[in-house]
Amino acid sequence: MANPSLLILPGDGIGPEVMAEVRKIIDWLGTQGTPFDVSEGLIGGASYDAFGVPLADETLARAQAVDAVLLGAVGSPKYDGVDYAKRPEAGLLRIRKEMDLYANLRPAQCFDALADFSSLKRDVVAGLDIMIVRELTSGVYFGEPRGIEGTGDDRVGINTQRYTTAEIRRIARSAFELARRRGNRVCSMEKANVMESGVLWREEVTWVHKNEYPDVALSHMYADNGLMQLVRNPKQFDVIVTDNLFGDLLSDAAAMLTGSLGMLPSASLGAPMANGRPKALYEPVHGSAPDIAGQARANPIATILSFAMALRYSFDMGDMATRLERAVETVLAQGHRTSDLMGPEGGNPMTTSQMGDAILAALKG
Ligand code: IPM
Ligand code: MG
Repeated sequence: MANPSLLILPGDGIGPEVMAEVRKIIDWLGTQGTPFDVSEGLIGGASYDAFGVPLADETLARAQAVDAVLLGAVGSPKYDGVDYAKRPEAGLLRIRKEMDLYANLRPAQCFDALADFSSLKRDVVAGLDIMIVRELTSGVYFGEPRGIEGTGDDRVGINTQRYTTAEIRRIARSAFELARRRGNRVCSMEKANVMESGVLWREEVTWVHKNEYPDVALSHMYADNGLMQLVRNPKQFDVIVTDNLFGDLLSDAAAMLTGSLGMLPSASLGAPMANGRPKALYEPVHGSAPDIAGQARANPIATILSFAMALRYSFDMGDMATRLERAVETVLAQGHRTSDLMGPEGGNPMTTSQMGDAILAALKG
């Protein structure tokens, strides 16, 4: 059987730095009887500089052909003046859309060793384990019409929130499936009080629940209240399912519950391929952090945990995924900290590569 294949797209800013730490783990797995076929490519500003576009067709074709894509981060203020369609972010949106990665899984877990680093009180976040399921290929990010029309003092900016029955039903199914393997509860969030797309969202999620997943507990919240509840009492949730834009906001907020944005992994999954594996892209929730790029200060944990999700969701290596997550937990419990995890009392942060080495050492056990 062919080795599992991975395309690594480090991207911009701290992307290449955190990805280098994942490479260490991949290389070690190779010595343990699980060799991956790894190739690399460019995305975001790095691709724009090389090819004049944030995602080249050839890179996209390779992404479509591999078992899973690992992505670092995209974006830099360097491209602020560049045409919207050629900005680094456009490359990320294109790869999500073209691979039809509609289900974005963003788990927010609070490691015990970090419970004091959250801006919320320890007892509110300690032991937190929730999953945000964000619709990723539709909604206001992609809806037409869009654009800026008019001239001078008389312009209008237009974006369209649009969801079809099929789009809502498939993301609802992803959420219910996940819930069955966790706490069996789904909370769906929209703004049905002001948006027709929200009314349809609520109706279709309810339809899927009634007809296909009546055993799962379903609740609904308006997204503004949902975000408030998320910071008031996050442990009330198990799985949250929501649209593209609300999911973007909710997941950034959820990241802070865990202590640092540098901790949150994600998986973006699509339909099964011919080999039975889902189309898949794994990336940290954090961005390219241009302010700390090149300083060896980035936290590689979100990217390493994203690779753990790849082991679990793409490669049927759930046991190794758990081992890797435990290794992260171990180094945190030992007091290893990158600069984002220093807390008010300060201290001596370790470098990106030292953190990667510590996690690998813990993994080897
Ligand atoms: C995310 C990011 C992206 C998004 C940006 C970089 C386009 O914020 O993955 O959450 O808005 O989806
Ligand atoms: Mg975001």
